[in-house]
Amino acid sequence: MHVHVTPAVERLRPYVAGPRPGDAFEGVAPEEIVLLHANEYPEGPFPEVIAAVSAALSGLNRYPDQDCSELRALLSTQLAVSPGSLMFGNGSCELLKLLSEGFVEPGGHIVYPQPSFVMYGILATQRQGRVSAVPLRDHCHDLEAMSSALTPSTRMVIVCNPNNPTGTYLAPPALRAFLEAAPKQTLVVLDEAYGEFVTSPLWEDTSRWVERFPNLVVLRTFSKIYGLAGLRVGYGIAHPEVAQAVDRLRQPYNVGTVAQVAAAESLRHPNLMEARRLHTRRERERLSQELDGLGRRITDSQANFVFLNIEGMSVPGEEVPRLLLSRGVMTRSGYFMGCPGWMRVTIGSVEENNTFLEALGSLAS
Ligand SMILES: Cc1ncc(COP(=O)(O)O)c(C=O)c1O
Repeated sequence: MHVHVTPAVERLRPYVAGPRPGDAFEGVAPEEIVLLHANEYPEGPFPEVIAAVSAALSGLNRYPDQDCSELRALLSTQLAVSPGSLMFGNGSCELLKLLSEGFVEPGGHIVYPQPSFVMYGILATQRQGRVSAVPLRDHCHDLEAMSSALTPSTRMVIVCNPNNPTGTYLAPPALRAFLEAAPKQTLVVLDEAYGEFVTSPLWEDTSRWVERFPNLVVLRTFSKIYGLAGLRVGYGIAHPEVAQAVDRLRQPYNVGTVAQVAAAESLRHPNLMEARRLHTRRERERLSQELDGLGRRITDSQANFVFLNIEGMSVPGEEVPRLLLSRGVMTRSGYFMGCPGWMRVTIGSVEENNTFLEALGSLAS
């Protein structure tokens, strides 16, 4: 081959996703595997969303609304932010990518926590960025160390709250102090993919913080609590000039019609969303107690997953995720996320969580 990829692409590895239809894992048929590896919600979209999507299908010969007008209007009212401060993407991952392209020149300095969402490292590689990956302290962002890593030439810092994979939640006052201290020319990306699952009394809606901090972008997604991971739609809230930069960079019609309809309809049912938040909290608390009973150390999660220590079991920690899979439960090993000795498990339905607990119990001693 005579064509050659750029040095950045040479260093990248494809994103490793979960099981595909037809794959068999450890002798278990794929349809029998309980999927607790990708932090998805265990149920699909709300019934009203399925009805709205079905009604929209006959219009798919037309391109989508380029401005996501209906979704924008609904969100702008619900969040009490101006329509111009919203941006929409093919999942919040697309917005992360567009923001890094728009605000980090090749070789620019990027700061993010470690371990955290793997995409941050991938984006930094794509930008051929100079990286400061700041280790967590007690499984939580070390905001002091992250602040120290920032210089006036840092182009972007990412904060993941709650953090993936540890689930830990940064209290708003600490986050606000971090923002106050950050250089005004550094874009601060606050990734709240799991924000809807937070039930801490300290929780604060950060949507309107962008009025006080014009260098802040808050990212959220419909992939998690709304059960729309398969559609790919996320949004960001920022100063309108930041939103305009993303608007200039994005592809036309980057959010499909079905995704727009589904996201808009999802917003019309806050009571259903609240029920999902409560289910997650109940199961998070139950799982935490049961895991404690099995002698497992866990982090203090506010997300739809728990992060647990898998050392000192009857089998080596590295083996635990594979052995769980052979018992029909797919989880995410921390050994590949820079967290040896740990594992992340999504909170599923009551039955799915029971299957996981039973499988783990069989390896506990
Ligand atoms: C922290 C974090 N941010 C963003 C995303 C991506 O979400 P989306 O499906 O909206 O691209 C994920 C997905 O797992 C995530 O864990």
